[in-house]
Amino acid sequence: EMLEKGGYDHFMLKEIYEQPRSVGDCLRGRIYPDRGLVQLGGIKEYAEKLKNIDRIIIVACGTSWHAGLVGEYLIEEYARVPVEVEYASEFRYRNPIITEKDVVIAISQSGETADTMAAIELAKERGATIFGICNVVGASIPRLSHAGVYTHAGPEIGVASTKAFTAQVTALTMLAFYTAQQRGAITESKLIEYLTELNNIPALIQKTFAANDHIKTISEEYKDASNCLFLGRGSSFPVALEGALKLKEISYIHAEGYPAAEMKHGPIALIDADMPVVFIATQNSSYEKVISNIQEVKARGGRVIAIVTEGDTIVRDMAEHTIEIPEVSEAFVPLLATIPLQLLSYHIAVLRGCNVDQPRNLAKSVTVE
Ligand code: G6P
Repeated sequence: EMLEKGGYDHFMLKEIYEQPRSVGDCLRGRIYPDRGLVQLGGIKEYAEKLKNIDRIIIVACGTSWHAGLVGEYLIEEYARVPVEVEYASEFRYRNPIITEKDVVIAISQSGETADTMAAIELAKERGATIFGICNVVGASIPRLSHAGVYTHAGPEIGVASTKAFTAQVTALTMLAFYTAQQRGAITESKLIEYLTELNNIPALIQKTFAANDHIKTISEEYKDASNCLFLGRGSSFPVALEGALKLKEISYIHAEGYPAAEMKHGPIALIDADMPVVFIATQNSSYEKVISNIQEVKARGGRVIAIVTEGDTIVRDMAEHTIEIPEVSEAFVPLLATIPLQLLSYHIAVLRGCNVDQPRNLAKSVTVE
């Protein structure tokens, strides 16, 4: 088994460290930065259809649903198509309004999640076109779908999803630019710029690992927390949700993710010196707003761990701890900001003596309702 883990203590850690490769594999042969071109062979028959759709519905469960929320921000921002993101389990029992014009994107690592499959079947019956974004080649969901994009992250053994999530976000990022390209919503020069940056993301993920020892030290300080809050705005909100999910899944610390501004409507009541608050506070459009949220937490005696853009001194002076990630356009922040949060959960769980690869009560794939 040690051999299978490639020298790492756990599959989860191995899979975290595989992300430069898995994201690279997902991109390979699909983006052509020099030509400002995205090619998604698995959906090319539907390129015309994407020109005429009025909306996209994304269905998924768990971590895949979080990837869907990141996808919503990206598709709306770059392709200017309205997107709805639904829990498959709710969608299937809600008599949803679906028409033949709709594209439904089902996201699933395993391709076998029962609720997601049922959501697809329902949408298909009502005439929608189904795109699957899956990791396991030939699984049920890709077979049920009309078209799709494989994430090519490779087998994921750790029950808590890591590299499958970043590969899903990568696939959705490409899909957003692909749709934008089909609809003429983006200029060629902008595409060249973004795709050049996207192509470099695997190398930047590699750079984020430099913070690993620092994250381990932080983890020692917070390993005995009983609650933890994760906050972010924009596409960093789903990153916060995913950060919280990872921590609760493997360390059994109660954790919640919230849009930073919503903190005032509830979680702020919980803040005290015993509850770490993790912010995604990178220098993007909502930076100033996030800074005022950090101030609100500090004013109530909270302890802040912030994911920041490399070289940020403003947040460093406010927060207990900062973890730096390389500077990137807002579109790519989720792909980088996720990595330190995975490492934080991992180290905290290991320090608490938890079985990180097989957390209690959880299954890798939920094939029954
Ligand atoms: C389970 C797994 C999660 C996963 C979710 C959806 O809860 O433990 O890691 O995100 O199912 O699975 P899927 O295979 O459809 O992405």
